[in-house]
Amino acid sequence: MAFSHNVSIIVVTLLVFGVWTCIVVSQASNEETMLQRHERWMARYERVYKDDLEKQTRFKIFKNNVEYIEAFNNAGNQANYKLSVNAFADQSNQEFKATRNGFKLPSTSRSGQTTPFRYENLTMVPSSIDWRKRGVVTPIKNQGQCGSCWAFSTIAAVEGVTAINTGKLISLSEQELIDCDTSDEDQGCEGGYMNSGFDFIVKNKGINTEDAYPYKESDSTCNITKTTIVAAKITGHENVPANDESALMKAVAMQPVSVAIDDTDFDFRFYESGVYNGTCGTNLKHAVTVVGYGTSDDGIKYWLVKNSWGVGWGEKGYIRMQRDVEAKEGLCGIAMKASYPTA
Ligand SMILES: *[C@@H]1O[C@H](CO)[C@@H](O)[C@H](O)[C@H]1NC(C)=O
Ligand SMILES: *[C@@H]1O[C@H](CO)[C@@H](O)[C@H](O)[C@H]1NC(C)=O
Ligand SMILES: *[C@@H]1O[C@H](CO)[C@@H](O)[C@H](O)[C@H]1NC(C)=O
Repeated sequence: MAFSHNVSIIVVTLLVFGVWTCIVVSQASNEETMLQRHERWMARYERVYKDDLEKQTRFKIFKNNVEYIEAFNNAGNQANYKLSVNAFADQSNQEFKATRNGFKLPSTSRSGQTTPFRYENLTMVPSSIDWRKRGVVTPIKNQGQCGSCWAFSTIAAVEGVTAINTGKLISLSEQELIDCDTSDEDQGCEGGYMNSGFDFIVKNKGINTEDAYPYKESDSTCNITKTTIVAAKITGHENVPANDESALMKAVAMQPVSVAIDDTDFDFRFYESGVYNGTCGTNLKHAVTVVGYGTSDDGIKYWLVKNSWGVGWGEKGYIRMQRDVEAKEGLCGIAMKASYPTA
């Protein structure tokens, strides 16, 4: 994929030519504190750099990130959310995007397809729902350094509909999608599309468990034997009518829903808590799963979103994103490409 190649070149360039500039004397004590912080952070996140040059480059990025995060958190605070110096603090935005996203919109007309929407006439929609409390959401997973968000989003929605229909919550295999679903735009760690993931599961007549086909954080060869073992089945998928948060609410009231979002805003990466309403657009790059909605103690409506960046990010791996915003696409385009599996 051209995009990730470009980025690796940029990263390599950064590492090779990341020249260390001398610390200005007047800032020495300040810098030293930051250096110590970087050391503490490295120990906490078990980060090892290959040499001093890389460490110096990483320190500069870390310092910029920390300064931004602290300025944001201390800005009096108008914002309804907080940021934290999390595991991603030594990565540049470009680098981060290359490895932690992975949503690919198909170039074909398939992406704009309308399908039946079985929940269109739903009239009684609860004012809040949290599917975690109903036992249909597996623990937070971590895609690691692999652009496989699409597989995590697909699987979380399938786990949800399966648990709702059968009463059994089973963790299912993202790796099976990464290795075996090579149709159309689905390219493992190089990105994919949830609707194609659902199609694969239909064609394969089901999907295996996480335990039997565990996550590897990299592309590997499809184990055909493992694809014949089936722990959950779906019959197809439907799209939520685009750019309609009330339609999305009806769908989420009935089951967890896969969505694509624009996560390229700096604040999204460092989100810690609260109801996020950053300055994101509609550049859909990441895939996540909406597992509920509600209203915060401060009266702000939100979507409850399951991410795949581990429990150290956000609210134990989740983010609350502002709901019912002015833009019809929803915050970060959350209402643009929502879909769910049927079973
Ligand atoms: C919703 O109601 C309309 C009008 O009665 C009907 O034509 C349509 O089939 C219904 N949709 C579903 C999904 O049941
Ligand atoms: C494929 O899966 C089967 C069943 O789990 C296992 O016995 C076999 O060793 C696997 N093959 C490879 C190449 O990993
Ligand atoms: C987010 O909400 C806060 C508090 O209501 C507001 O001050 C801020 O302008 C909003 N941010 C965006 C990008 O709309």
